[in-house]
Amino acid sequence: MNFPFVILAALLILLHAAAATTIGVTYNTMTPDVPPPEHVVPALQSLKISAVRLLNPSPAAVRSFAYTNISLLLSVPNYLISSFAANRSAADLWLYSHVLPYHPRTRISLISVGSDGITDVATTYSNLDPSTVLLSAMQNLHLSLRDLGIHTIRVSTTFSFVEIMTTSFPPSAAEFREPISSLILRPLLQFLVETNSSLLINLYPYNIYRLNSEIPIGFALFQENPFNFRDDVVTGVRYRNLFDMMVDSVIAAMAVSWQENIPVIVTETGWPSETDAQAVGNYAEMYLKGLMRHLRSRLGTPLRREGVTEAYIYELFDSKHNGSTTNGAYDYASMREGAGQHWGIMYPNLTMKFKLDFSASTWIHGNDRTLVEVLVRLFAALLSVSLLL
Ligand SMILES: *[C@@H]1O[C@H](CO)[C@@H](O)[C@H](O)[C@H]1NC(C)=O
Ligand SMILES: *[C@@H]1O[C@H](CO)[C@@H](O)[C@H](O)[C@H]1NC(C)=O
Ligand SMILES: *[C@@H]1O[C@H](CO)[C@@H](O)[C@H](O)[C@H]1NC(C)=O
Ligand SMILES: *[C@@H]1O[C@H](CO)[C@@H](O)[C@H](O)[C@H]1NC(C)=O
Ligand SMILES: *[C@@H]1O[C@H](CO)[C@@H](O)[C@H](O)[C@H]1NC(C)=O
Repeated sequence: MNFPFVILAALLILLHAAAATTIGVTYNTMTPDVPPPEHVVPALQSLKISAVRLLNPSPAAVRSFAYTNISLLLSVPNYLISSFAANRSAADLWLYSHVLPYHPRTRISLISVGSDGITDVATTYSNLDPSTVLLSAMQNLHLSLRDLGIHTIRVSTTFSFVEIMTTSFPPSAAEFREPISSLILRPLLQFLVETNSSLLINLYPYNIYRLNSEIPIGFALFQENPFNFRDDVVTGVRYRNLFDMMVDSVIAAMAVSWQENIPVIVTETGWPSETDAQAVGNYAEMYLKGLMRHLRSRLGTPLRREGVTEAYIYELFDSKHNGSTTNGAYDYASMREGAGQHWGIMYPNLTMKFKLDFSASTWIHGNDRTLVEVLVRLFAALLSVSLLL
């Protein structure tokens, strides 16, 4: 084929590529010894962070994002799941205090009813059936939002990868765990389709890497290297990083449940710094920079061209949890393998531990004309070079 036409074809593919993934951060406003939201929000704005996931949000925290144009994913603490499920008025009450006074000046995109809710409901409330309580809670919250005339805020819940998946390799063999799959996920995926919502998943290549010594560190850290790949022999697809492999496992498992088109949001991903042999050096920085570069490339994953729609870095500040809960708020850190490590990207004095450039996503996102112009010039330049040859 003629060289310029190959370039032209490549350009056309690029121009039609899906939108870049929105990259946000997870912010637990209950973290002890960090500044209040009204001081944190301006720091987030100056970093050009466009999306924030709030764990256990207080009404004041939701209010402090008003007029910022930062979109919020609110995560309702797990201890409210059972009351939302039992009773619409509990969901109403929560919306009256956390959402109604601030919507739409604060941009709320989605509310997650709990996080790792299945495990938590099953272990905390022996009298409740986790297969119905989670979906009932989501349905009630959804109906309450509709009754308030709010149609722009979606409802979902957050799962963790290890909790619902059987395997991450090869992705084509991945399925949701039983009995979670038939009892909980199938009806829940149906709800997500009907309400145009997304599947939310906490996804840590770090944990899979730790548990599988044969995985090269570079494969987990998005390092480009000729030897960093794994082939899925069933689909013939080549994976160049662990993150894509895990995302495609989720997508393949949804396909087994006949719901492969539900958008996927990665609600947590990250890499701890310090305190542990696998977390030494600048792996945290390498992982997050590699992740952001990869998500901005608009290449998606092998099984889904548009990739994940949003991804939230875990987390903004180190939380010094040790397994205790504060104010009845659910302690997410203690649930994680490697609790007690430092996952934060920002010090309490609001400076970053290392530089992450959140603004670059707006270059591609918000200014496609610039991109087109750059590409057209590049094409013209390559064309003239190829004519000379
Ligand atoms: C607000 O954010 C949206 C989407 O992220 C963007 O399109 C819009 O230009 C932003 N508006 C302002 C005033 O920054
Ligand atoms: C429903 O919730 C409200 C407020 O949380 C509570 O006062 C009421 O007793 C609950 N009703 C039932 C039947 O649980
Ligand atoms: C579903 O959501 C997307 C974006 O979140 C929106 O563009 C689309 O119009 C929605 N579709 C329906 C049927 O509500
Ligand atoms: C965990 O932290 C809480 C509050 O900071 C403290 O009261 C408790 O003693 C700690 N528990 C352990 C086992 O260190
Ligand atoms: C912020 O805190 C970190 C860690 O304590 C420290 O290394 C850094 O110098 C501080 N930066 C400023 C501007 O105070």
